[in-house]
Amino acid sequence: MKLTIAGTGYVGLVTGTGFANLGNDVICFDIDKAKINLLADGVLPIYEPGLEEIYKRNLKAGRLEFITDAKKAVRESDIIFICVNTPINEHQEADLTAVKEVARAIGQYMNDYKIVVNKSTVPVGTADFVKKIIKENQQKKIEFDVVSNPEFLREGAAVKDFENPDRIVIGSESKKAEEIMTSLYRSRARADRPIMITNIRTAEIIKYASNAMLATRISFMNQLSYLCEKTGADIKAVARGMGFDGRIGSRFLQAGLGYGGSCFPKDIKALISMLKQNDCDSDLFEAVNRINEKQKSVVVKKLKSVIEIKDSTIAVWGISFKPKTDDIREAPSIIIIEELQNMGAKIHACDPVAIENAKNVLNDVMFFENPYETIRDCDALIVATEWNEFRNLDMRAVKILLKNPIIIDGRNIYDPKEMTDLGFKYMGIGR
Ligand SMILES: NC(=O)c1ccc[n+]([C@@H]2O[C@H](COP(=O)([O-])OP(=O)(O)OC[C@H]3O[C@@H](n4cnc5c(N)ncnc54)[C@H](O)[C@@H]3O)[C@@H](O)[C@H]2O)c1
Repeated sequence: MKLTIAGTGYVGLVTGTGFANLGNDVICFDIDKAKINLLADGVLPIYEPGLEEIYKRNLKAGRLEFITDAKKAVRESDIIFICVNTPINEHQEADLTAVKEVARAIGQYMNDYKIVVNKSTVPVGTADFVKKIIKENQQKKIEFDVVSNPEFLREGAAVKDFENPDRIVIGSESKKAEEIMTSLYRSRARADRPIMITNIRTAEIIKYASNAMLATRISFMNQLSYLCEKTGADIKAVARGMGFDGRIGSRFLQAGLGYGGSCFPKDIKALISMLKQNDCDSDLFEAVNRINEKQKSVVVKKLKSVIEIKDSTIAVWGISFKPKTDDIREAPSIIIIEELQNMGAKIHACDPVAIENAKNVLNDVMFFENPYETIRDCDALIVATEWNEFRNLDMRAVKILLKNPIIIDGRNIYDPKEMTDLGFKYMGIGR
């Protein structure tokens, strides 16, 4: 099948490459010329484990094309996936500007039947909105269908998630579109990981509901972490004790610095707006959001309780919003670093892959590739991202290199007793 992917970011690139790898011809279309030039030249602009190999293989095989020509992108495909960014706007709603632009181009250049797939995370009702924009821009009446096919991939494991999704949700009100989409996805479905066909609005809500549930679990544990600290309990053991309960499960129960990234923060805010617009109560998700905002600063408060931050030098291990990605959007580390700088601290920071992205948003930070070099003569160390690279280091050497043996472990990756026995002043979250 001939597919167009509109928007070649984290989702679009993984989706386009993944479909090319299944034997489809894929046009990746983006308005960012620099990005498209890099991609056409064989340079992958993002870090995502496993992506480079399949991208290079399929580019070489001629199954992947990178273009900025909207007309060609629309005309030469049967199915057009909208994978553009949907950030939060000043009213705390999902900004559909890019979605609207793509829909306008589809209407304008459409030459025969197309399936238009909303893969970007978009509020309930957006499929109708896309349909309306396409119709308004058609030169003559041509049949088309809009379906909702939300994306659930996790950055850092996106290639695996494309190949082995937990489920594939297709919201469709057209039998023809449903059949074509099912045949496109059939090879990836399994008995216990089905293709689920729903109506369009249900599919649109499944995406927000899923992210909101995961974010709620994180805020739930973060709120409990305060009680653990006050009473001498350990939130990690509490999470373990909860997780063995089959009704609860063990995932997404880590207390820490809160959730970040390009999805959960904006999706919770957009869900709150959607609920309000539909005269529904949004108390639960407002609390989830509020707890998360507060959580990002918790390590700064802890640090302030043990050292004078003004004129200190603080080392930060981990910049990306989570391990195995170079994505720093809404990363707690950025807020922590800026807060410390405002209080007069100098920052040394280290990350296995996110330094280049961090240089674009952070000023006056000294970046290091090596975690040991990062901490030399620093007054304290903050662990902001739980990269495996930080888990098994020589903590005796760490103690020698730091000016003061202070670790604020924002991701609870170390054992408090071991750290205390080594002579560190160690503070985790909720322990
Ligand atoms: N990143 C994730 O982990 C993830 C997971 C699931 C869902 N989503 C959702 O998928 C969507 C895309 O997310 P992302 O992280 O890939 O975003 P991104 O910012 O990495 O990429 C978006 C791309 O769209 C391009 N674009 C903008 N306007 C365009 C236009 N008019 N025509 C063509 N291209 C255009 C941008 O140049 C950019 O390359 C969002 O709605 C997001 O919420 C993201």
